[in-house]
Amino acid sequence: MATTRIVTVSGSLWSPSKTSILARSIGQRLALSTGGELEVIDVATFSAELGAALRLADASVRVRHATAAIAAADVLVAASPVFRGSFGGHFKHLFDLIELDALRGKPVVLAATGGGDKHCLVVEHALRPLFSFLGGFTAPTAIYATERDFLGDELTNPAVLERVDTAVREALAIHRAGIGAQAQASRVERVATTSSN
Ligand SMILES: Cc1cc2nc3c(=O)[nH]c(=O)nc-3n(C[C@H](O)[C@H](O)[C@H](O)COP(=O)(O)O)c2cc1C
Repeated sequence: MATTRIVTVSGSLWSPSKTSILARSIGQRLALSTGGELEVIDVATFSAELGAALRLADASVRVRHATAAIAAADVLVAASPVFRGSFGGHFKHLFDLIELDALRGKPVVLAATGGGDKHCLVVEHALRPLFSFLGGFTAPTAIYATERDFLGDELTNPAVLERVDTAVREALAIHRAGIGAQAQASRVERVATTSSN
């Protein structure tokens, strides 16, 4: 059986980052459950190049590598810090550059971190509509964390960890249903037909 490719994206612009710790922690649990490969994408490592790229064709190798990894993922973890009540601009820009159909049918775990509880529903009113529009199958359980849920570079709050486990189970149920593989196979077929015409 093919190895499950798990890709996490953290939209934080800084390091160290709570969003990156959260994304990695979800990714590690997915990898542990599947024996799959984990690739971690931190927007902070290429934020200037990403901001400068108006089209994917003009983007740097690192940005194009990130978009290709996201498109090839079997399970995606999408995590952003809350900036002014929504996802971060660079995080959104990365997904603006990705081919429209690339996420169709893919299981997506949604996560966000914020400075307080005020914006905990950002995952529902900002992240979920974006990833639904992109055709992703978002796990019903979304994850939100703030500073107090971490100890150093570890996510420690048991209530948040329980939500992570639930979201991981949900995403893997979607993955095992094979919806993403079917959607991607028909996408590849469509692209091949279009380019041969
Ligand atoms: C420009 C800016 C805007 C922010 N806006 C909000 C906000 O609207 N709501 C909120 O809860 N936190 C807000 N924060 C706090 C961050 O979301 C929070 O510190 C986050 O966990 C940072 O993630 P990081 O450690 O991964 O960079 C903002 C921070 C910055 C820098």
